[in-house]
Amino acid sequence: MEPVIIVNFKAYREATARDAEALAKMIEKYCIVAVQNADIYRVSRIARKVYAQHIDPVGYGAFTGHDTAYCLKENGASGVIINHSEDQMPMDSIKKAVEIAREAGLETVVCIRTPELVKKVSNFKPDFIAYESPELIGSGISVTTRPDTIKKVIELAGGKTPVLCGAGITKADDVRKAIALGCSGIVVASGVVKASNPAAVISSFRQASGCVQ
Ligand code: G3P
Repeated sequence: MEPVIIVNFKAYREATARDAEALAKMIEKYCIVAVQNADIYRVSRIARKVYAQHIDPVGYGAFTGHDTAYCLKENGASGVIINHSEDQMPMDSIKKAVEIAREAGLETVVCIRTPELVKKVSNFKPDFIAYESPELIGSGISVTTRPDTIKKVIELAGGKTPVLCGAGITKADDVRKAIALGCSGIVVASGVVKASNPAAVISSFRQASGCVQ
């Protein structure tokens, strides 16, 4: 499997609405773009692969104000980030969200803040587990400065669920290290969204990950 690179647009101003489209246009050939749910439709018309940043653990029905997997899928999402450290959910909701996403045909990335959660979360059979150290998010200090924790997460996942890592990744070398540690890819936000040349950064990440282009 090719290494996975997900760029999380979060709710950054430079990655919102029209600017989300512009950024996606620049970088989509190198990565998956995870945009705000309200931007899914517009970005999916121009980008190869778009993820939602959240779903609620509900299906069709009387759920005013909820983001459903079915609606996001219909509007062009191909996957979803669940339980991001900035959007945490109780364990039973994570389980339900993964099940509904799978049923709707969305790929699932479940984020965890500590290795202790690997076993529980891998029982839900998400497509990926993403380990992010919350204190390093947006810090410019890469999660790969915690190699032992990353190795622990991979070991606990036991080869059954591919592991991504994220937080503080800004350099191609951080990506190289993540892959060398055994990660199946990375999740990045500010290092790309806030870069003066996002396309150059993401293309260098892609090369560093071992992808050809
Ligand atoms: O989901 C990605 C993320 O939380 C990492 O953020 O800004 O440290 O790349 P950042």
